Amino acid sequence: MIGIRGTTRLAGVIGWPVAHSRSPLLHNFWCARHGVDGAYVPLPVRPGALETALRGLAGAGFRGVNLTIPHKEAAFSVVDRVSDVARRAGAVNTLVFHEGGEIEGTCTDGIGLLADLRAHGVEVTGRTLVLGAGGAARAVAAALLDMGGEVVLANRTRARAGGLCEALGGGSVVEWDGWERALGGFDLLINTTSLGMGGEGGAFDLSAASDGLIVSDIVYVPLRTPLLAAAEARGLKGVNGLGMLAHQARIGFEAWFGVMPEVDAEVMALLTASL
Ligand code: ATR
Repeated sequence: MIGIRGTTRLAGVIGWPVAHSRSPLLHNFWCARHGVDGAYVPLPVRPGALETALRGLAGAGFRGVNLTIPHKEAAFSVVDRVSDVARRAGAVNTLVFHEGGEIEGTCTDGIGLLADLRAHGVEVTGRTLVLGAGGAARAVAAALLDMGGEVVLANRTRARAGGLCEALGGGSVVEWDGWERALGGFDLLINTTSLGMGGEGGAFDLSAASDGLIVSDIVYVPLRTPLLAAAEARGLKGVNGLGMLAHQARIGFEAWFGVMPEVDAEVMALLTASL
C-alpha cells in the first residue's frame, strides 16, 4: 500500500462485526495495483450508531463506504438518494459521499453475482431457483428479473418468499420442503441462505437436477459449501461466492478512486488465499 498522506482518498467498510471482511484486502490491493493514492479501512459500527457514523465519515472527507451485515437495509432509509437498483433491492451496500454532504446509495450485490456468473460462462436469463427470501435473495432476484430471467423462490418461511415476489412484481414460489424434487426444470440454482455457512447443515439430494444445472452459492466461508459439494458429487458445475464479492466491489472502487478495477486470476488467488 502507498503511504497515507494529506491527499489520500479514504473509503472503508462498515459492519458489525467487520473484522472478517475481505473488502479491505481487495480494495487496498487494487489501490496498489493501479497506483491510486487511496486507502480502505474496516469500520466497526454498532447498529444504533449507523447514521451518526455515516454523517461523521462524510463530514470527515471520506469518499464513501461499503456496508455489510447488519447495515444494508437500515442504511437504505438513512441515505439521501438511492439508485433504482437499490430501491428494487430494498438495500444499499455501496455509498458515495458527495461534496456538500449528500449521501448516495446503490446496491451492487445482484449485479456482482450476475457479472461473476457471466464470467464463468453461465447464462442468467433462463429459469433460476433461488433459495432464501432475505436481503441477499431480494438483490439477486431483482437482478435476475431485470435481466429478463424467470425466478422461482423457495424459503423456509413461505410467506416471506410470497412477500418478496409481491415487492418485486415478479417471480413465483415453490415449497421449501421439496425444492430438491422440483429441480428438474431449472437452469440455475442460487443459494442465498446461511445454510452451510461455517460448514454447517445440509445433506442435499440433487439427483432430480438436469445435467446442465449450474449451482451457485453466495456463501464463501467455507469456499466449498455443502451445496457445492453435493453439486460436485452429482457432476454439476458449481460457482462459489468469492467471485461475487470481487465483482460487486468494482463499482464502489471506481466511484471513490476513479479507476474501474479488473477481477482476474491474481485477484481471485489473493481472496482465496485469505480464507
Ligand atoms: P440476508 O440478508 O443475508 O439474506 P436474512 O435476511 O437474515 O439474511 O435471510 C436469511 C435467509 O436464510 C432467509 O431466507 C432464511 O429463511 P427464513 O426466512 O425462513 O428465516 C434463511 N435461513 C437461515 N437459516 C436457515 C436454515 N437453518 N434453514 C433454512 N433457511 C435458513
